[in-house]
Parts: sequence; C-alpha cells; structure tokens
Amino acid sequence: MNKQALFSLSLVLVFLFHCTTTLAQPAQAPAPPGPTNVTKILEKAGQFTILIRLLKSTKVADQINQQLNDTNNGLTFLAPSDSAFSNLKSGTLNSLTDEQKVELIQFHILPNFLSMTNFQTVSNPLRTQAGDSSPGEFPLNVTTSGNSVNISSGLVNTTVGGSVYSDNQLAVYQVDSVLLPQAIFAPRPPAPAPAPAATKAKTKKKTAAGSPDSATADQNGALSLRLSRHGFLLSIGVAVIAALLSL
Ligand SMILES: *[C@@H]1O[C@H](CO)[C@@H](O)[C@H](O)[C@H]1NC(C)=O
Ligand SMILES: *[C@@H]1O[C@H](CO)[C@@H](O)[C@H](O)[C@H]1NC(C)=O
Ligand SMILES: *[C@@H]1O[C@H](CO)[C@@H](O)[C@H](O)[C@H]1NC(C)=O
Ligand SMILES: *[C@@H]1O[C@H](CO)[C@@H](O)[C@H](O)[C@H]1NC(C)=O
Ligand SMILES: *[C@@H]1O[C@H](CO)[C@@H](O)[C@H](O)[C@H]1NC(C)=O
Repeated sequence: MNKQALFSLSLVLVFLFHCTTTLAQPAQAPAPPGPTNVTKILEKAGQFTILIRLLKSTKVADQINQQLNDTNNGLTFLAPSDSAFSNLKSGTLNSLTDEQKVELIQFHILPNFLSMTNFQTVSNPLRTQAGDSSPGEFPLNVTTSGNSVNISSGLVNTTVGGSVYSDNQLAVYQVDSVLLPQAIFAPRPPAPAPAPAATKAKTKKKTAAGSPDSATADQNGALSLRLSRHGFLLSIGVAVIAALLSL
C-alpha cells in the first residue's frame, strides 16, 4: 500500500469516528439513570398523557420495562400522541375490553430495536407484541420512500413521525394516528348463510314501510272492482233490455 492510500484511509477512519461519536451523543444524552422506564421517557416528552394512562392501567408499561431488562433485541414503540387519541371516534376506547386495551397497546410495539433506516429492510407484515400478524388479526405493513416511513394496519395509515427517544435498545417514535388492528376493529364479514335472510327481512320491512301506499292501492283496487262490477251489471242490464226490445 502506498503512502497516499494510507493517508486517505486514515482520513476516512477519522471521518467515520467523528460521525459515530457525534451521532451517538444526542441519542445517549436523554437516557435516564437506572433501568429504562418507558413511562418516564413519555412523561418527559409531553403530549402522551392518554398513552401513559393506558400503559399504566393495562400494566403494559411494566411489561415493556421488564422486556428491556430481559432481552437484547430491544423494542420499538410507535407512540400515539394525545391528538391521535382525540381523533378517534368518541367512545372507541371505552368500548374495548381490558384484554383488547392490552392488545391495542401491544400492537404499537415491535419486538426489536429499529432505527429509521432499519424500517427500509423489514419484511411485511411486521410482527408486533400483539401476536399473530396474519390477515384479519394483527398485521402491520411498512412502506418507505427515502427517509419517510408509512405504516398501515389495513384500517389506518400513518406516517412514522419524529424520534422521541432512542438508545440502542429502545426506539420511541411518535405517530399521529392510533393504529387500529383488524382483529379488534375490522367489521366482521357477514356469514354467507344469514346474508340472504337479512336481505329478505329488509325487503319485508320496506313493504311494511310502504303500507300506506299499498293501502291506497287496495282502496283504488276495491274502487275499480266496484266500478267494473257496476259496469258488468250495467252491460247485463243493457243486454237484457236489448233482448227484450228485439222480441
Ligand atoms: C417509571 O416512571 C414513572 C413516572 O416517572 C414512575 O411512576 C414509576 O414508578 C417508574 N417505574 C419504575 C419501575 O421505576
Ligand atoms: C434485570 O435483569 C437482571 C438480570 O439480567 C436482574 O438481576 C434484575 O433483577 C432485573 N431488574 C428488574 C427491574 O427486573
Ligand atoms: C406516506 O403517506 C403520505 C400521506 O398519505 C403520502 O403522501 C406518502 O407518499 C406516503 N409515503 C410512502 C412511502 O408510502
Ligand atoms: C400487507 O402487504 C401484503 C403484501 O404486500 C398484503 O397482502 C396485505 O394485504 C397487506 N396488509 C395490510 C394490513 O396492509
Ligand atoms: C392505506 O394505504 C394503502 C397503500 O399503501 C392503500 O391501498 C389503502 O387504501 C390505504 N388505506 C386507508 C385506510 O387509507
């Protein structure tokens, strides 16, 4: 290797070292002392009060902290902001069972650490902490273009927003929509058998609803029947008279 090549190589190395240190610094700065506490991280960030309340009531916060301590894969948390929750149809959260609330939160947690660039190489559907990622269950798809990352549950599309927190174990990104999983929120496809019955009932109802009209029709019908009976008697009368006259 000649001197010039060595020199360029060392320049590259110095540059790389500089990049790593400057990139690593802001990420490490917000790490609170002691074991990672996701609630504390979200409290510090602000705008996650509803999520924090859910994390506490469902005990998913404890699960997350425990997992971070127990595994080396890390976690990625797509954290819905307060405005994401306030955009939900009112009563959405209240309509969920305790188990569904747990699943809803777990659906926002991916079982490994993903940097923004890592999203470009994941394969769909993504597995979440909520489990089964097959269609109709808890699938989550990622589409990327340049630095932008979109995520879809099949019911909700959203963009992965700014990084709230990142060390090499936990990544927290803000999302401005609550990701609604199909397993909880997809309208169940109607079973094939009851479908025609439902249509029939609807038709019946329509006829019943239209009864004032059919009553009028009946009345008209009765009227025309009476008129034609009149006409019939009249023609018999005319025929009788004609017959009498011809005699
Ligand atoms: C995590 O932080 C929250 C809020 O600061 C606190 O209430 C909770 O006790 C902490 N949990 C642990 C395990 O330290
Ligand atoms: C974290 O894990 C270590 C062992 O890996 C264990 O000794 C410690 O009690 C754990 N801490 C918590 C808060 O679970
Ligand atoms: C993400 O969604 C936004 C808004 O719907 C759209 O404009 C953008 O093209 C999408 N990007 C990707 C990579 O799908
Ligand atoms: C995810 O992508 C796969 C393959 O592209 C597709 O079949 C599936 O319907 C998508 N699911 C969702 C929830 O968008
Ligand atoms: C979400 O985006 C996909 C394309 O990535 C699109 O096919 C689908 O209709 C969108 N769904 C909603 C609910 O906006």
